[in-house]
Amino acid sequence: MGAAQLIVTGGAGFIGSNFVRHVVTHTDYSVTVLDKLTYAGCEENLADLPEHRVRLVVGDVADREVTRTLVGSLDPERDAVVHFAAESHNDNALADPSVFVHSNIVGTFALLEAVREYGVRLHHVSTDEVYGDLALDTEERFTEGSAYRPSSPYSASKASSDLLVGAWVRSFGVRATISTCSNNYGPRQHVEKFIPRQITNLIDGVRPRVFGDGAHVRDWIHVDDHSSAVLAILERGRIGETYLVGAGCERSNREVAEIILEVCGREAGEIDFVADRPGHDVRYALDARKLEQELGWRPRHRDFTAGIRETVRWYRDNEQWWRASKAATEATYAKNEQ
Ligand code: NAD
Ligand code: DAU
Repeated sequence: MGAAQLIVTGGAGFIGSNFVRHVVTHTDYSVTVLDKLTYAGCEENLADLPEHRVRLVVGDVADREVTRTLVGSLDPERDAVVHFAAESHNDNALADPSVFVHSNIVGTFALLEAVREYGVRLHHVSTDEVYGDLALDTEERFTEGSAYRPSSPYSASKASSDLLVGAWVRSFGVRATISTCSNNYGPRQHVEKFIPRQITNLIDGVRPRVFGDGAHVRDWIHVDDHSSAVLAILERGRIGETYLVGAGCERSNREVAEIILEVCGREAGEIDFVADRPGHDVRYALDARKLEQELGWRPRHRDFTAGIRETVRWYRDNEQWWRASKAATEATYAKNEQ
């Protein structure tokens, strides 16, 4: 019998392609990536991976025929689907939520119907944003028991997809797990996101642009650690369970901008504070003890400044990867900031 097959939806994006790389390095699975190649997906993210292990199918996860055909080709005894495909950026969802409903909700529905029909194991990748936000002046952190309280169109679409997964587990016996992860950083993240935006701004001689007063807090995790967590949950997680994935690295946006400035040899005060994001979630922080205690998972990247230094180096060394998207991204932000 050959090695197991994985379908990885959204495998040409930032985290999905990191996961595919992780799987190729640490397992003998073969991978079929199903990806629509939206503005956020890029074939080049998979270009260095062996062709006999990774194949790309360009298609929409919400297309029932495409999804059904691919899932139907799997062996339910040993193969699985890992679902990353989604529209992922809050500012885009504020400008036009419709594609978020399509890809994140209808896409997950299509996949659930396919895994239900063929009895295939599914892991669904979600976000800590489904739990809403926390106050700055508490030590409180999200747990798997936190109430769903999404506050943005993006997080509401992800929360909806999680609820569908939970219902398909209970009502139809679908074998699924969910992970809700905190903010990722690392190589190949689109320049619309906070950290790559500021790094590439600085490369272009533009000061970091921080929304509001910069006091908003995010809980950062290196993308490699997210990938190792997803693989652990896929292989050893209990069916029907949700696992929070986080590395215990809370930083305010202002602190993150200052670390990037320091790594780039600039002064800490060189920040432009710009118009705030409407409905901006104040703070995310999560408790990953269930994942650590049940599955023995630990983050490997524990030094955030070292991780940022490595990420800055990647963007400096790979300008051809991001340059084409930068101007359009900044034009969109300029419109929002007016
Ligand atoms: P990304 O935007 O970099 O990549 C998304 C990928 O999905 C792209 O390759 C895109 O082409 C593909 N895609 C989008 N719509 C599709 C569709 N309808 N059919 C097929 N493919 C489609 O996103 P990311 O940051 O890598 O996030 C991946 C997943 O992880 C998402 O589900 C996101 O909600 C979740 N997540 C992200 C973070 C984070 O910090 N970025 C944290 C927690 C969870
Ligand atoms: O928490 C997990 C989520 O993290 C994921 O589900 C999302 O897919 C991912 O995009 C991310 O959401 P955020 O909205 O937290 O990420 P973003 O990189 O857009 O912004 C991080 C913080 O930085 C947030 O407080 C907004 C702020 N920000 C962002 C940009 C782009 C700025 O201050 N300036 C900026 O230019």
